[in-house]
Amino acid sequence: MNDRKPGGFRSNPNKNYIRSRIDKPLIRKWSENAGRHLEYLGLPGWEMLDIVEWQSFLANFSTIEREEREQHRLYLTANVRDVEHRLHALYGDFDDILITGRDKYGRMPRWPYDVVNLDFYGGLLYSDLRRPMALRKLIENQAAHERSFLLIVTHDLRDSDRGREKQSFLTDMHKFLARGISMRASTIALDWYERADTPDAARQSVYTNVFLHDVGENHQFHVTCRTPLVYVGTGGTKMIHYTTDFAFRRAAHRIVSDQSIVDILNLGVHEVADERVLVAFETPYFGIA
Ligand SMILES: C[S@@+](CC[C@H](N)C(=O)[O-])C[C@H]1O[C@@H](n2cnc3c(N)ncnc32)[C@H](O)[C@@H]1O
Repeated sequence: MNDRKPGGFRSNPNKNYIRSRIDKPLIRKWSENAGRHLEYLGLPGWEMLDIVEWQSFLANFSTIEREEREQHRLYLTANVRDVEHRLHALYGDFDDILITGRDKYGRMPRWPYDVVNLDFYGGLLYSDLRRPMALRKLIENQAAHERSFLLIVTHDLRDSDRGREKQSFLTDMHKFLARGISMRASTIALDWYERADTPDAARQSVYTNVFLHDVGENHQFHVTCRTPLVYVGTGGTKMIHYTTDFAFRRAAHRIVSDQSIVDILNLGVHEVADERVLVAFETPYFGIA
């Protein structure tokens, strides 16, 4: 957790690799497809390393920061880099800002955005489930503006993260899979995910991607999830990183993405280490939906 001390966030080689080699090509592609520079919302930290790395594809940036000292340093960075006129800085916890629609000073995000980089401390699942609620609100807002977007989420991988929530999710997924694929296949799926020796990254990955897929489709988005990446962050913290495309489709019915839930299960989990992407661990193959 050394990257969370008062000195502020410090990057590390795995994070640098993901920012420049994994995320940047996606952002370039989004910018090329849109035929313009992109509107960014995210948690860049005081050095704004993501904004700096991606700046040739970005137009304006709305930043979120909850530490006062980091916020001051962020203003200084923007000043030194001469990008203050493109900066809209929001102050507070990102969950609160997304849920209430305002920061601690009453300022609102400038909806809609093209790229949203939620790169936060802590896990995704807490007892009050505010973080999934905040993500839901973000997707709702983007849908209200009919704006497609790339969502990047990075957070700590915590084995203790609300096990009961994941358990009830697995039970529901079991019922869901039993409809789509055979009962036997769904039982194998559930058994593997429930096993004590199954890495929690597998449960967390499927939970998050299925959640994003489901909420996205409910809000008129065609959703494409990618294989989540795990890596060791600064200070030895285990992290997980997701990139998801949300393509808005105007329709009266719920959208059905090309990617099915079974496809999401088949994504597995990759690991970034030593500037390489490897299979993190073997996951069962669930066949074709
Ligand atoms: C991991 S750093 C950002 C790194 C940056 N995106 C990059 O690519 O290098 C996260 C920043 O967001 C702030 N932060 C972490 N969790 C937050 C939260 N829940 N709400 C608001 N700010 C948060 C931290 O103080 C830190 O400055």
